Amino acid sequence: MRISDKAVAARLKELEVELRPGVSLKEKTSLGIGGITDELLLHRFDTIPQVMRLLADEKIPYRFLGGGTNVLIVDGELPWVVLHLPVTRPGMRIEGNAAYVDASADLGGMVTFCAKHNLGGMEGLIGVPGSVGGALRMNAGAYGTQIGLHVREVELYRASSGEVETVRGNDIRFDYRHTSFAPNDVMLRVELELPSKPYQEIVADIRVCNEKRRSSQPLNQKSAGCIFKNPPGGSAGRMIDELKLKGHHVGDAMVSERHANFFVNVDNATCADMLQLMDDVRERVRAAYGVELENEVIVWKN
Ligand code: EPU
Repeated sequence: MRISDKAVAARLKELEVELRPGVSLKEKTSLGIGGITDELLLHRFDTIPQVMRLLADEKIPYRFLGGGTNVLIVDGELPWVVLHLPVTRPGMRIEGNAAYVDASADLGGMVTFCAKHNLGGMEGLIGVPGSVGGALRMNAGAYGTQIGLHVREVELYRASSGEVETVRGNDIRFDYRHTSFAPNDVMLRVELELPSKPYQEIVADIRVCNEKRRSSQPLNQKSAGCIFKNPPGGSAGRMIDELKLKGHHVGDAMVSERHANFFVNVDNATCADMLQLMDDVRERVRAAYGVELENEVIVWKN
């Protein structure tokens, strides 16, 4: 989707939105898959409601992209523009046991920043790639922790009201890889409440998690992390592995040799390759175990 209307481009500029034409989302996603579209960088939170109204009035469809680490995007010319929050530095500050963090901040960077202030509780999240906003949206979790446990307040653009609002953590549902946020709510900032813990202890726990992750996940390959959610009481990775599907591939989309719930882009996989591989594996798991695997990765199709 291209913004060709000069009046719209001028209005976006007034709202301090940076328009980057013809961006390849291949370069913006950890899977290295995705088509081309115009990217809109939202430099100010307070103009977001006006930006959204403008896009609605001009009938310009949009999608919001965070860190791009848990998304599979269709190839070719995309039918939506992509909205993105620019990374701010450091994008976080600490007051007592509270951490105030911008949604565009890197999740791992946040864990280490908090650690340096002797605030822990998020050690398990250290190797989870992506932005704080994306982690919030999906309630990212690993090694027994999840970000939702620590949320005191979230500032977001609420799609239903068209306004920037603040929501208390108690009023948000954080479930396994799912939250009560609406699909087009945009996370802007979060306040976390974290337990005090000495830096050295946090670092020691982070090392343990890093080691576990390095030994079980294909960290140096292009992936979106786990492709399917674990079914209740089960493990998608174990089932796919038991079916001897490691190395199974469609084009350059392959079930990782290291962790069977990671599907990697070996070189130049297309979105169609990846979707076909997901369907194949889902079908085989259904046939063998009677379990319907649900996507963990978010799929952007036309
Ligand atoms: N297993 C196999 N073969 C494999 C992979 C796993 O037999 O190829 C077995 C393991 O031996 C283990 C069990 O399956 O007994 C579970 O595996 P693992 O400990 O690797 O965890 P997981 O359930 O596959 C979940 C999250 C990961 C997170 C890890 C660590 C989901 C879908 N995945 O993986 O999150 O890093 O636990 O806490 O919930 C992600 O969300 O993208 C992600 C990678």
